[in-house]
Amino acid sequence: PILSVALPSDTGRVLQGYVGNKSAVFPLQLLGFDVDPINSVQFSNHTGYPKFRGQVLNGNQLWDLIEGLEENELLHYTHLLTGYIGSVSFLNTVLQVVDKLRSVNPDLIYVCDPVLGDEGKLYVPQDLVSVYQEKVVPVASMLTPNQFEVELLTGLRITSEQDGLKACNTLHSAGPRKVIITSALIEDKLLLIGSYKRTEEQPPEQFKIEIPKIPAYFTGTGDLTTALLLGWSNKYPDNLEKAAELAVSSLQALLRKTVEDYKRAGFDPSSSSLEIRLIQSQDEIRNPQVTCNAVKY
Ligand code: ATP
Ligand code: PLP
Ligand code: MG
Ligand code: NA
Ligand code: MG
Repeated sequence: PILSVALPSDTGRVLQGYVGNKSAVFPLQLLGFDVDPINSVQFSNHTGYPKFRGQVLNGNQLWDLIEGLEENELLHYTHLLTGYIGSVSFLNTVLQVVDKLRSVNPDLIYVCDPVLGDEGKLYVPQDLVSVYQEKVVPVASMLTPNQFEVELLTGLRITSEQDGLKACNTLHSAGPRKVIITSALIEDKLLLIGSYKRTEEQPPEQFKIEIPKIPAYFTGTGDLTTALLLGWSNKYPDNLEKAAELAVSSLQALLRKTVEDYKRAGFDPSSSSLEIRLIQSQDEIRNPQVTCNAVKY
């Protein structure tokens, strides 16, 4: 099973709208995983809407759930996935969860989406950055930052593909064997950059996938990307390129479907943020056709 902790804390589990666990759990289930989601928030809708209401979980409440599982000897998990975390205290509890789960299963794979911000804008408190750098990155098995997050974590500016590759090397030396820059806008191209350090001795295997840019804005796609990368990496543990091709290709099919659906209903897809058509895209998630190919460096 997978224990999914703390996907978007201000947008996590929502009744309406696809972000956080709402966009990560269903695809993982479709890919055959047994998922135990912990919702770091329970909101009426995601925060992209004009108003929202609901509750936020604190670190003690998270730990309470872990202790409940432990008391029943139910703490054996194969993967841990984390996304948006809104406070240092919650993030520190997540670190305790990683330790605890690894004490039960030393092979636990921790997939960390270090959600800090996007397009030059931080959307978590600044003091989270150094906690990710110093404590979280070192224990992650797979890291899925976007371009801005890589820059924050490494202190390097990413304006070329070479910069991206160098930053991946820096992150590898801090801990994770798999690093995927899930989106980077470089010389007007939207790229995913992957880097897999198979062994301590060899240099990492690195690749890029160029993503056709759709003129629309989506929410929940970062969370979905990380979930798909986890899912396909489990099927192809030694082939990050293949896992990334499958993840990107199914996501693109889903996004095209989403845009078509809005158009059919008479909406201009470029006019506002779109809700992904996740449930309608289950065939594309289960059996993606590879349409986006990886290119090795
Ligand atoms: P984070 O969750 O850390 O913010 P992120 O910024 O990488 O991650 P997104 O910007 O949502 O998340 O991008 C994730 C993926 O979603 C990209 O790799 C791309 O495949 C897809 N994607 C998102 N928006 C578009 C778009 N307008 N056109 C094409 N693909 C897109
Ligand atoms: N909106 C806000 C404010 C967020 O912080 C997040 C974080 O993950 C999201 C939406 C959903 O993000 P994404 O589109 O990267 O999955
Ligand atoms: Mg982005
Ligand atoms: Na990301
Ligand atoms: Mg994002």
